[in-house]
Amino acid sequence: MSIHARPRRLLLVNGPNLNLLGTREPAIYGSTTLADVEQVVAVTAAEFGYEITAVQSNHEGVLLDAIHEARSSCAAVVINPGALTHTSVALRDALTGVGLPVAEVHISNVHRREEFRSHSFISGIADFVVAGAGIHGYAFAVQQLIRTLGEPPAP
Ligand code: DQA
Repeated sequence: MSIHARPRRLLLVNGPNLNLLGTREPAIYGSTTLADVEQVVAVTAAEFGYEITAVQSNHEGVLLDAIHEARSSCAAVVINPGALTHTSVALRDALTGVGLPVAEVHISNVHRREEFRSHSFISGIADFVVAGAGIHGYAFAVQQLIRTLGEPPAP
């Protein structure tokens, strides 16, 4: 696909248990919900003339399928893989397989928590990683990805 045909759409992926945002361990993840996250991403993307496709699933294969579909429909991927961050070679391979720019986002600072959360299978293939900025990290990820895509804000 030529650069001119690149879709003005981002894929937002949220992994297992992120549907529980708002009620899940609020001391760590805050009180905002998945709907709030999707709203923040949609509004930030819209400022640059981008739309989003949002997927959250507790099933790895659903996430892999959504990433595969993004190959032709999206320009980049914002992903909070949840616990799959620390376990999934398949998710990493799906992201490298489609070859889109990737922003890895974590609501919490994974490096200040249990040691097993410090290792990510995704970070090594992500364009950048945002951790510990709460849901604002998603907004930053959108802005930075679109900068990486080299496109000016929509008029
Ligand atoms: C998380 C951090 C992961 O370790 C955890 O398994 C999650 C959420 C975060 O957003 O901080 O589910 O990705």
